[in-house]
Amino acid sequence: MNTIDKYINKIIKGDCIENLKKLPDESVDLIFADPPYFMQTEGELHRTNGAKFQGVEDEWDKFSDYREYDEFCTAWLKECKRVMKKNSSIWVIGSFQNIYRIGYIMQNLGFWILNDVIWSKPNAVPNFGGTRFQNSHETLLWCTKNKNAKYIFNYKTMKHLNNGKQEKSVWNIGICIGNERIKDKEGKKVHSTQKPEKLLYNVIISSSRPGDIVLDPFFGTGTTGAMAKLTGRNYIGIEREEEYINVAQERIDRVKTIHDDISDLKLEIKPPKVPMEKLLKVKYLKEGQEVFNKYKEKIGTIENNGYINDGEDILSIHKMSAKHLGLSNNNGWDYFWINDNNQFIELNSLRYKFQNNFQN
Ligand SMILES: C[S@@+](CC[C@H](N)C(=O)[O-])C[C@H]1O[C@@H](n2cnc3c(N)ncnc32)[C@H](O)[C@@H]1O
Repeated sequence: MNTIDKYINKIIKGDCIENLKKLPDESVDLIFADPPYFMQTEGELHRTNGAKFQGVEDEWDKFSDYREYDEFCTAWLKECKRVMKKNSSIWVIGSFQNIYRIGYIMQNLGFWILNDVIWSKPNAVPNFGGTRFQNSHETLLWCTKNKNAKYIFNYKTMKHLNNGKQEKSVWNIGICIGNERIKDKEGKKVHSTQKPEKLLYNVIISSSRPGDIVLDPFFGTGTTGAMAKLTGRNYIGIEREEEYINVAQERIDRVKTIHDDISDLKLEIKPPKVPMEKLLKVKYLKEGQEVFNKYKEKIGTIENNGYINDGEDILSIHKMSAKHLGLSNNNGWDYFWINDNNQFIELNSLRYKFQNNFQN
């Protein structure tokens, strides 16, 4: 048995640096790390109605000074780099208090930053005293081990999840509230920094494959484990606090894996080569049917040979899309949309439908 196997889909109890050392070199596919922020909050914060605000005052967030914090981050990041496979990537989340230190340390350790993704919070906690701007985002650094890594990026899947538009580096996701927020018997938040599932879903879907091992060295309530299981990936968690481990384990046990086109990355598979004429022949399209761009603006109608007529020219889907984009070439399959029984769908999706129904 490979030594990594005994840790798969387990939560390891204890310090992350000590326990990362037990994992073999180049053994994990993706890392999500949500380390202590070293918030340095002092005194109590109160809501406008006078109630005490339950912020991040936990023991795990305390360090004596920046030097101690930097040494801690350098140590766990070095171990993360060692356990990452050659082409793995790592996401580290932080706020203004720590992300600049972490970014500096990561670059010094040779990590290569691919993106800094902003998690924008539409329902962020207000600045109760009105003394500063409302702090309404956190930053995720998405990095590879080095500049040459051939990392996973599920571009088409993320585009599909963003309604057919290229996904941006700003993600608008609400903070964890309602049923998603894990509470104790008294109704108090179990963890002060439980991350929203959608955030981890995006991280995992965008940068891993089914069956991959996703490591989270600061597991908390196990949001990473829950989303890894949901999407058919494996997880390894490390967490010091017993209370969080128990909550995380119960939470993960309740999750059922979903095998859908998104989790299984079906959209990343090259589209089957099915010409327009074939789609007309099987009546997925009809002569005279209107075609649109992604903004639902009508571009033209379909001719009986699969060409598009925009009232001026009759051109192939590729030439017609290039004309309307002002380009010399373009892939028309990615440009056109149609109204299919009152559903606005990408023309390209019909090729997958054809493959499923006629070519399997
Ligand atoms: C920011 S929270 C992570 C929250 C988590 N992402 C979630 O969604 O619940 C950081 C976690 O790291 C744990 N932690 C802090 N220092 C640690 C260490 N040295 N080793 C292992 N866990 C640690 C804390 O107990 C805390 O649960």
